[in-house]
Amino acid sequence: MTAPMLSVESLTSGYGDSQVLFGMSFEIAAGEVVTLMGRNGMGKTTTVSTVMGLVRPTGGSIRVDGVPVQGQPPYRIAQRGLGLVPEGRQVFPTLTVEENLVATSANRGGGPARWTVDAVVELFPRLGERRRHLGGQLSGGEQQMLAIGRALMTNPKLLILDEATEGLAPIIREEIWNCLGRLKAEGEAILVIDKTVSALLGLADRHYVVEKGQVVWQGDSGAFQADAGIIDRYLHV
Ligand SMILES: Nc1ncnc2c1ncn2[C@@H]1O[C@H](COP(=O)(O)OP(=O)(O)OP(=O)(O)O)[C@@H](O)[C@H]1O
Ligand SMILES: [Mg+2]
Repeated sequence: MTAPMLSVESLTSGYGDSQVLFGMSFEIAAGEVVTLMGRNGMGKTTTVSTVMGLVRPTGGSIRVDGVPVQGQPPYRIAQRGLGLVPEGRQVFPTLTVEENLVATSANRGGGPARWTVDAVVELFPRLGERRRHLGGQLSGGEQQMLAIGRALMTNPKLLILDEATEGLAPIIREEIWNCLGRLKAEGEAILVIDKTVSALLGLADRHYVVEKGQVVWQGDSGAFQADAGIIDRYLHV
C-alpha cells in the first residue's frame, strides 16, 4: 500500500501556554480534494500553520509520502511539495505580478514542471493584464489569484488554501472555485479551508469538520448532505 501524500496523526500544538490542537488527525491521497470545515477559532489555520512548520508541534506526527516532517523548518517542509496559500494572501506589495510569481518559482512536485508564469496567466487571465502592476495595486480578488499563482509556481504536490475566497465579490469567488475545479480535473491534490459549504460540497471528495482542535466528523459530500444536523451542530455560529 502506498502512503498517503499527507498524513497528520494526533497532532497537538498551540501558542505559548494556550493549546489549540488536541489531536488533529486527517489524511489526503494523491489527486484528492479534501476540506477542513469548522467555526471561527476552532484551529483550522493553526492546523495548516503547524503542518507547514510555522507553528511548532508539541506532539503527534506529520508525514509527507510516508516521511515524517514534524519539527522541520518551514522551507524544508515546503520543499517536500506542500504549497500554502495563506489566510490574508500576503503577496509582495512592492513587486510586480510577474516578480511575485518568479520569486517563488521552484519544482517540488517530482515530475516535469507544470507551472510557469505563462501557465499561471493562462489560468488567471486577469493577472496577464496586470503582469507589470505592483502587487499592492491589485484588487483583493487579483491579489488572491496572485497568491494562488505564487503557490502553484512551486509546483506543489499538495496545494493548501486557507480562506481563499474570504471577503471577495461573488463573481470573483466563482472564478476561484472554477479554477480549483480545473486544478482538480488535472489531478492536483488540494486541501481547502473555506466557509462556503455549498461550493466545498461540489468541489471536494471528502471533508473533515474541526471543533476545538480535533476532527469531530469526517465523510464524503454524500454523507455530509445526508446528515442534516452537521451544519447546525458544527458550522453555524
Ligand atoms: N498567533 C496566535 N497567537 C495566539 N493565539 C492564536 C494565534 N493564532 C490563533 N490563535 C488562537 O488559536 C485559536 C485557533 O485559531 P485559528 O486561527 O487556528 O482558527 P480558525 O479555525 O482558522 O478560525 P477562522 O475560521 O476564524 O480562520 C483561536 O482561539 C485563536 O484566537
Ligand atoms: Mg483560519
